[in-house]
Amino acid sequence: MMLIINTIKDTRNQIKAWKKSGYTVGFVPTMGFLHEGHRSLIEYSVAENDKTVVSIFVNPIQFGPNEDLEKYPRDFEADRAMCQEVGADLIFFPEVKEMYPEGFYTYVDMESLTKGLCGASRPIHFRGVCTVVNKLFNITVPDKAYFGQKDAQQLAVIKRMVRDLSMDVEVIGCPIVRESDGLAKSSRNSYLSPEERKAAQVVSRAIFEGERLVKSGEICVEKVTQAMEAIVQAEPLARIDYIEIVDCDTLSQIDEIKGNVLGAAAVYFGKTRLIHNFAATGRI
Ligand code: PAJ
Repeated sequence: MMLIINTIKDTRNQIKAWKKSGYTVGFVPTMGFLHEGHRSLIEYSVAENDKTVVSIFVNPIQFGPNEDLEKYPRDFEADRAMCQEVGADLIFFPEVKEMYPEGFYTYVDMESLTKGLCGASRPIHFRGVCTVVNKLFNITVPDKAYFGQKDAQQLAVIKRMVRDLSMDVEVIGCPIVRESDGLAKSSRNSYLSPEERKAAQVVSRAIFEGERLVKSGEICVEKVTQAMEAIVQAEPLARIDYIEIVDCDTLSQIDEIKGNVLGAAAVYFGKTRLIHNFAATGRI
């Protein structure tokens, strides 16, 4: 039977009881409106751990003032059904006041890695992500935690936080799940009009072309980013936020491709901002 728990205290007590019985715990943090990308993370966790905890929490502190917090899509019934079907054991589904009661003042902030890519247009985003993931790790005390490579910068940031703050959890990056035309699955795809949805395939086309060039041995970053930009710019409904090739570990800009690099893109269609990426080695 799958449990649905709203409070930190009851979640902790349940997980403590499992650990006392010798069970391992896998954890999948989400903001809900679950799709096949989330499902794959839950499947990995169920396969590799005795118990799987999924959190569903639209975290207000990772949204900027002009972002989509208010309209972020929600469907708890569908989420519950998917978690149950895949074999999750517990959904942690707290309200905002449970996570951020009056007088909440402590944040986890990260330098360097959070400044470029998505951090450039979303200056408080990763502070919110690090803070909530830290809290969620403290509540669920997982052996392993599962994150998608679709949010490559987030995965790199979480791995660095765990290393820097000596957290006792293994962070596992999982492959990007895509629609049949290549578009990365995202809860935010639901914002796209039919025209924008069709246009949005230029993002994955650009990512695949960048990946192809890097794999074929191209070492000039500018040549790769220009080829990727040209694909996106040919689509009138697309507006580029960034297209960059960075070092996979430091996320800093490079001129020449060597070692593992991350090619990442963020593109607006109307107000909807979509991201996609490739890692030269397939892993971040
Ligand atoms: P959310 O956007 O709901 O994503 C939850 C997890 O699902 C993240 O690790 C994300 O990378 C992964 N994911 C999303 N789309 C995916 C896809 N197409 N393929 C593979 N994995 C995919 O990311 C967040 O929530 C939040 O920032 C969170 C970590 C929960 C903190 O609030």
